[in-house]
Amino acid sequence: MQNHTTLSSRRYERIELPAETFKKLGYALVDQIAGHNSSIADRPVVVTESAEALEKMLRSIASPIEEGQDAASLLENATQLLLSRSLFNGHPKFWGYITSSPAPLGILGDLLAAAVNPNVGAWILSPVATEIEKLTIEWIGQFMHYPAGGGLLVSGGNMANNIGFLAALRAKTGAETREKGLRGLRKQLTLYCSRETHTWVQKAADLYGLGTDSIRWVATAPDGSMDLEKLELGIQEDLAAGHDPFLVIGTAGSVSTGVVDPLEGISRLCKKYGLWFHVDGAYGGLAASLPELHSQFDGLEAADSVAVDPHKWLYAPLEAGCVLVKKPKHLTDAFSYHPPYYNFENSDMNYVDFGPQNSRGFRALKVWLSCHHLGMAGYRQLLREDILLARHAADLLGKTAGFQVFTSHLSITTFRYVPEELKDRAGEEEVELYLNGLNQALRNKIEQEGVFFLSNAIIEGKFALRMCIVNFRTTVKDIDAFPAYAMEVGKQLHEQSRKEAKATS
Ligand SMILES: Cc1ncc(COP(=O)(O)O)c(C=O)c1O
Repeated sequence: MQNHTTLSSRRYERIELPAETFKKLGYALVDQIAGHNSSIADRPVVVTESAEALEKMLRSIASPIEEGQDAASLLENATQLLLSRSLFNGHPKFWGYITSSPAPLGILGDLLAAAVNPNVGAWILSPVATEIEKLTIEWIGQFMHYPAGGGLLVSGGNMANNIGFLAALRAKTGAETREKGLRGLRKQLTLYCSRETHTWVQKAADLYGLGTDSIRWVATAPDGSMDLEKLELGIQEDLAAGHDPFLVIGTAGSVSTGVVDPLEGISRLCKKYGLWFHVDGAYGGLAASLPELHSQFDGLEAADSVAVDPHKWLYAPLEAGCVLVKKPKHLTDAFSYHPPYYNFENSDMNYVDFGPQNSRGFRALKVWLSCHHLGMAGYRQLLREDILLARHAADLLGKTAGFQVFTSHLSITTFRYVPEELKDRAGEEEVELYLNGLNQALRNKIEQEGVFFLSNAIIEGKFALRMCIVNFRTTVKDIDAFPAYAMEVGKQLHEQSRKEAKATS
């Protein structure tokens, strides 16, 4: 440990980076990112490397660990590694999960946000940033035609939904539970959502002490949307059993297939039984902005809280989720405390009071910049095109012998490969088992080859490939190239398993 007398000659150049060095490194990095973005279509979606190999590369870049090293070579090596060995969701043929291509202006927005580094927990620590977050929330609410009184930017859909959940819990159980917790309640709280609901709901019910048994999984109609009759029946049964229903979650764009629950019907039942209505629109909520789809989202405006993800369909670089509420009071009721060590009373726009986070980063900047760069019209156009591309894929695959399309909602299309010789036997248990294995192998092989990237869904027990377009770089040409490629890989896998079956029989 150095003695305090050395403080008079404190050397900080290394962490500070002199202005000339900062510029040199920064310009070089920006050049490389720009080159990466403009040539991304010519490279694989993903370069598969083992965890061991990656760890070895990283250890060699980052040694020695005691003395540290030159910033230029460290940054250059990290850039090279990341730009050559990552999975690129910015690639036009990346259609997996629900992770969008990052808007280039958003990338610069994150750089600027980090440079100013405001702590958006309190207005005095982040005057401009707090106002930008407030206006970003207003923009998102207006865009999706939701009358938001306020909201909060968070890390993503899980957190946005968790905050809606906690606001519902507080509104239903009252301020007393802030002290007494749930042990003071005499009745069991119950909540309702369809079987298609994202797993955030289990985490929330588990973590906040209700237990996953409090979730009533409402059956779905054949298209995967919530069955309203079953919902009402469930609520009535719980009331009759002396339980305390408090929340219904409607999903606006399910994670697997993109189906939208009947929001208007759910809102009617919530009113009738005095329940909180939360909409998980993490993925699909933003499509409520499209006039041609608006009727699908009727009822959204009645929700007490809505989760929506800028890092999905506003193409913000990760992370950016958002919770919107009709009445901001529901957030402050759930989250606000006023400790003596904070002197934030000069403003009532202290985001620390609206959510669980204390120190908060400036997520809003990248979102706000993109919103005002593209405008609402620009975003509507991009969303519309993503949806058209997913429908085009469904049409194309539907017309190609050897593929079976299951669903196409919003910008998600699900389908599977069925070898011609098995077409007439689909449905037989043994064949279904085989097709599940074959399609899983097909998805994995596609990922390994790095030409396209898709994820999967399980549709009524069937393993489906799932294409989700939240990607402003995808073109019709990219989609058109897919069926022939997938067919070829599927055929090879099928051939191979037939050979293996023969060899073992
Ligand atoms: C409907 C829905 N809700 C919640 C989430 C979770 O969002 P995140 O991954 O941003 O936490 C997802 C993710 O795909 C989703 O599709």
